[in-house]
Amino acid sequence: MTDSRDNMPPTLHWVGSTDGHLRLIDQTRLPTELVEIDCESLESVVEAIRNLRVRGAPAIGAAAAYGVCVGLQSAASGANAKGDRAAFFKRLDETVDALAASRPTAMNLFWALDRMRRRANECDENESPGGILVKLLDEAKAIEQEDRDLCRRIGRHGAPLLADGAGVLTHCNAGALATVDYGTALAVVFAAHESGKRIEVYVDETRPLLQGSRLTAWELTMRNIPATLICDSAAAQVMREGRVQAVVVGADRIAANGDAANKIGTYSVALAAKAHAIPFYVAAPSSTFDLSLPSGESIPIEQRDGREITHGFGRQTAPAGVGVYNPAFDVTPAELIDAIICEHGVIRPVEKDGIAKVLGK
Ligand code: MRU
Repeated sequence: MTDSRDNMPPTLHWVGSTDGHLRLIDQTRLPTELVEIDCESLESVVEAIRNLRVRGAPAIGAAAAYGVCVGLQSAASGANAKGDRAAFFKRLDETVDALAASRPTAMNLFWALDRMRRRANECDENESPGGILVKLLDEAKAIEQEDRDLCRRIGRHGAPLLADGAGVLTHCNAGALATVDYGTALAVVFAAHESGKRIEVYVDETRPLLQGSRLTAWELTMRNIPATLICDSAAAQVMREGRVQAVVVGADRIAANGDAANKIGTYSVALAAKAHAIPFYVAAPSSTFDLSLPSGESIPIEQRDGREITHGFGRQTAPAGVGVYNPAFDVTPAELIDAIICEHGVIRPVEKDGIAKVLGK
């Protein structure tokens, strides 16, 4: 089945060879402008991640992998191509540190950076900086391609959970824009829709940065999937009215026991779903799991600038000087999650041993 999204540029991709650059959709401009930007320096990649030009855990991971390549270009090209390995590895450390400091919560960022560093360390000790950069660019491209594949697998595993005619509520954006392509939570919706099921999606607008209304509603509209936008505070009422038969959201980091961090407001949605006996599903790739954390207690929660709340709509919406608390994520406890859908299958019930088994750990 084709849709108008097929004509869209990818969320992100690499342009050229090792002296090329990262190109990505500037998501801050959507839904009114579809604009790509070129990131040709480490600083521009860090800025793009920090300011949510590229966002969503898997997309952040893939962007960071390419960011490593951008950051290493000067240490591995021209006169340096055959040059100083020590200087190259020092620059690798600086590059990884800068990217790791861009945002704290999404596990995929740290997973991708670890993978890139490991690939560099695996290179033969006689490999030149230029040669290592070639391998690192291949690794970043592998991360990009794997993300495309595993999102499709998440969609295939999750689609049977949605009944024909179901209303599905989602929070934030876990679609194609949050990954390299196709998404996680929205992959489940897309796959169900592609299999012929009639699905209507209730889209939480997702204050304060409106990823639901700006991005999810846009993606669904592009694919001609019925979408109804609601303000976040309407979610429980929409459930009470019987409009929603399932909730599907993405995740930024999932602890070993299944507690899942996702966009602020997700926990409230899970509580409302429990109160209405509506199944609550989390869709995320294995790279979002952080098995080093026993529970969600220790997931680092990003705190963002209060101006996102006080000046959210391009104008001041709160009195000057008011105190603001603006955590970007919350943690939904495992007991509120009916199943986690990952590329290996559906994890149910959501508990430590089942997670370890499905992830093969
Ligand atoms: O702050 P954002 O927009 O990066 O937050 C994104 C989310 O919370 C997504 O739901 C999550 O990263 C999963 S994306 C497949």
